[in-house]
Amino acid sequence: MTTLTTAPAVPAARAAAVHDVAPVLPVVGGDTLVPLVDGRQVPYANLDVAASAPALQAVADRVARVLPLYASVHRGAGYLSQVSTALYETARRTIGAFVGAREDDLTIVTRNTTDSLNLLAGCVPADPATGEPGRVLVLDIEHHANLLPWQRVTDATVVTGGPSVSATLAEIEEELSSAAAAGRPYALLALTGASNVTGEALPVADVVAAAHGAGARVVLDGAQLVPHRRFSLVETGVDYVAFSGHKTYAPFGAGALVGRRDWLDAGTPYLAGGGAVRRVRTTTTEWHEGPARHEAGSPNVVGAVALAAACDELAALDPWVAGEHEDALRRRLVDGLGDVERVEVVHVWDDAVDPVGVVTFTVSGYDPGLVAAYLSAEHGIGVRDGRFCAHPLLGRLGFDAGAVRASVGLGTAGEEVERLVAAVRSLVTEGPQARYDVVDGLWVVVDDPRPVPEGSGLEGLLATAALGADEAFGCLPDDL
Ligand SMILES: Cc1ncc(COP(=O)(O)O)c(C=O)c1O
Repeated sequence: MTTLTTAPAVPAARAAAVHDVAPVLPVVGGDTLVPLVDGRQVPYANLDVAASAPALQAVADRVARVLPLYASVHRGAGYLSQVSTALYETARRTIGAFVGAREDDLTIVTRNTTDSLNLLAGCVPADPATGEPGRVLVLDIEHHANLLPWQRVTDATVVTGGPSVSATLAEIEEELSSAAAAGRPYALLALTGASNVTGEALPVADVVAAAHGAGARVVLDGAQLVPHRRFSLVETGVDYVAFSGHKTYAPFGAGALVGRRDWLDAGTPYLAGGGAVRRVRTTTTEWHEGPARHEAGSPNVVGAVALAAACDELAALDPWVAGEHEDALRRRLVDGLGDVERVEVVHVWDDAVDPVGVVTFTVSGYDPGLVAAYLSAEHGIGVRDGRFCAHPLLGRLGFDAGAVRASVGLGTAGEEVERLVAAVRSLVTEGPQARYDVVDGLWVVVDDPRPVPEGSGLEGLLATAALGADEAFGCLPDDL
């Protein structure tokens, strides 16, 4: 008789179909109908949440309540100016608390993650020994927003990650400790909280331990993490986090940088202008410390209030419910797409755990731009295609020609995911039904018959000719 000392390996269960999975929270426009090329109308399946998430209904409601009270911020003695200032400063506290700010951390309201990381890049202290720009370590998996700011104003080193999480962690540790031993320590490690290409991430605790052990601070690009997972600066020991309102269900133009005060108080003011200064003479300027130092000009009070409203909603949510919802949709996307012939699902690592709801894939024989145009025109599905502002990673993984990305969030219904899987399968088995062509680098439907949204009151702003054209979407194909 054989005695089993360890449990036999159990193959991971295949994800069940998710037709009946409902959104966790209501979003504005969740039931918007869009036209298809065959003349039908279907509910829009927004599977491009990682690019910009729809507004939570609660966010839109709060903004509607605040607008009648809106007036100048920090600049007026008028009653509504004071109300607006109080709303803005309360929003700042809510945003900071949402990411577990330490008592002495600053919360700076920015435009988005890109803005936040550019701001921090200007505050990385010079190497005290040489006076040269501070050293920053970055992985090649980063979104350009977490790569280019460091390359421009700091002494940045980009490390190519390994095929597994553990190999990548080992590379980071080795680079940090050998730089410290050589007397050229890194000031900062800049890392994504979740990849915008695959949703995967490194374990934050290990990264923080390695960086702090070598005397470096950590900034987390939280653009894809903060909207989808509970994150806390104080609990993780991460020094700075940057994130975007428009990805956190609050598309009103605000983002945030939250973290340690000393660098921010000593750094070059991000914008020069009114509100950032204590005293100005014709030849000298005395700058504020605190958030004001980096928030010159009239702040985006509506954006900050909207972001704080989203933070309130997400904080009140049961994290287990939110995580289960997203995980079920993600697993179904990975398994469902993976079962379709000629489809390849992209991974950075073979041992990543707990990825967020972002799934990137290719369909062999079809350009990613054509796949995205087909999903829109024939199935009413919105996805992203291209290189996702992560050219180094896509190049390393062998997807220089781009890929297609589907992403989900709290407002996503299981039906949308099932529709995508079925649509990709039908593309592979039957091919597209409409005719497509490349115009100025973008795939479009030939003689696209889809009308502009009717009854929206925006008809005059949406000339049919502009739909699908570069300028309508601000798309620069080479750049994406
Ligand atoms: C991981 C990641 N970082 C940074 C950004 C830049 O965000 P934003 O465009 O809001 O500045 C994005 C946007 O897609 C992202 O996914």
